Amino acid sequence: MRNTNEAAFASCELVARLLTKLLKKGILPLGSSRYSRIAWSKLSAIGIAMALAFAAFGQSPARKQPSAQIRLGLRLFREARFSSPQGDLQNSCASCHLLDEDPQGMRAQTDFFSRSWVPWRGADPRREELRNSPTILDAALMPRLHFDGEFGSLEDLVKGTLAGRPMGWLPGEEDQAFDRVYGIILKDTGEGSDYAGNYRADFKAAYGIDPGDLGKAEVIDRVTKAIADYMRTLKTGRTTPYDRFVQANGLNTRPAKGEDPKLFAGRLLGNVVALEKKRALKLSGGFGAAALKGLKVFFRTNGGSSAGNCAACHTPPLFTDFSFHNMGISQSEYDQVNGQGSFAELLIPTAAEAHRPSTQFREIPSKRKPGCVDLGYWNFVDLKSSPLRRAGESDDRFLQRMIASFKTPTLRNLAFTQPYMHTGGFSTIESALTELMRLSELARAGQVREGDEELARIRITEADVPSLVAFLKTLNENLIPGGRY
Ligand code: HEC
Ligand code: HEC
Repeated sequence: MRNTNEAAFASCELVARLLTKLLKKGILPLGSSRYSRIAWSKLSAIGIAMALAFAAFGQSPARKQPSAQIRLGLRLFREARFSSPQGDLQNSCASCHLLDEDPQGMRAQTDFFSRSWVPWRGADPRREELRNSPTILDAALMPRLHFDGEFGSLEDLVKGTLAGRPMGWLPGEEDQAFDRVYGIILKDTGEGSDYAGNYRADFKAAYGIDPGDLGKAEVIDRVTKAIADYMRTLKTGRTTPYDRFVQANGLNTRPAKGEDPKLFAGRLLGNVVALEKKRALKLSGGFGAAALKGLKVFFRTNGGSSAGNCAACHTPPLFTDFSFHNMGISQSEYDQVNGQGSFAELLIPTAAEAHRPSTQFREIPSKRKPGCVDLGYWNFVDLKSSPLRRAGESDDRFLQRMIASFKTPTLRNLAFTQPYMHTGGFSTIESALTELMRLSELARAGQVREGDEELARIRITEADVPSLVAFLKTLNENLIPGGRY
């Protein structure tokens, strides 16, 4: 039964890929507008593929049907009319968190830009978002969201984004933004969309309520919840070659409760080496000798050479510690614009004087804006309650230590998230690692302002890069066109 289901699912996937290709090439024309054509093609491809799989195997494949709430969330996630009419482009969440809508290929719910495109506004003439768009697979597992930890929950993030710069709104326009969302929900006729009914019908199906009977604030809360709940369904599949390697060899998937990531890394390495000695270590096509060599560099946290120290921050199973570190990326970008050594000289106010979040310190460095830079978590860290604060550390010392620190990104699905780093300045994994290598040397020489202590402990050379890359590739899953629905 299970095998038949899996075979049906696999064949469904194959046919869906083929049909999506034909549709994208325009051989099978469907739909009309730019975005809807692609959404249509995807939906139709899956529909046809499912029908074929059903015909071939006499049962429906094992794809889960989403609930009415999740379907509503997905529709809202793709709603471009929410963006400001004063901007020059219409964005939806899906404009920057793509899956297979782009002819360039699959994405882990991110885009291809170094920095995502925002609608241009006369009063704030910019085309780019502050940062690179990260994957949002597993975002629900992140205690803090955004590279600078701006948001503490998905709901806060959705509200902030619906009324924020990504959707073309300027500070102070929150009321206008929410009025617009409210109006669209109430007045939508469903015409011109890929969906059968209007939002009122969808709301009834999802929540058993007509949004006309709710106040504006309640409608916004429901919209927010639907999008947030949809994102809670966006998870990585733990079926990558790495996950299978861990399972086949009976290794631990994560640190024990309260275990230090470095101790965990050492324990995992110890187990791997012990199995190797007994000639009992199981490798596979997807996880071969090069990946194993890379794994050892990745998990080695001390030693003079080939010690990546990566697992100290990129801790399994998500390959992030959910914490914030200064890797020197902001300094490097700032110095490229303003001259070597300029970041070290930049005046950054003390804890008592700082107004946080700060526009000066949440900005892309450029010649036109001297002194502007992105200090990341420095803008939002709570000096009193943060667990990162050390015993006996003053407010000021702690805040200085948070300069230019950013949330550790997951390393799952790097094949579908380039370019890398919060600046999007690195188009390949190799170039990102070469930069980390360079910055770790600078950190050891004391030349990264407030560089993280663990940065200085990365000891790799060019010779380690190919095997590290081979290992990182084992963290890619097989993303399916059409998503999980
Ligand atoms: C203009 C492009 C753009 C649009 C539109 C956009 N995002 Fe994002 N998203 C980004 C960028 C860039 C970041 C990283 C922001 C940062 O760290 O400062 C991000 C970050 C996120 C994150 C945090 C991931 C993490 O691990 O911290 C989530 C979740 C998210 N977006 C969801 C959404 C939702 C939901 C919407 C629609 C309401 C949306 N985004 C609209 C570009 C966009
Ligand atoms: C001190 C903690 C720390 C250590 C050690 C560390 N990283 Fe990172 N890594 C980060 C942080 C934080 C970022 C994001 C930096 C930024 O954008 O400013 C990052 C970014 C990355 C990225 C880019 C990911 C993306 O989606 O943009 C890759 C790839 C990466 N690290 C791999 C590694 C490897 C491989 C090692 C070991 C050689 C390593 N890191 C060691 C914290 C760490």
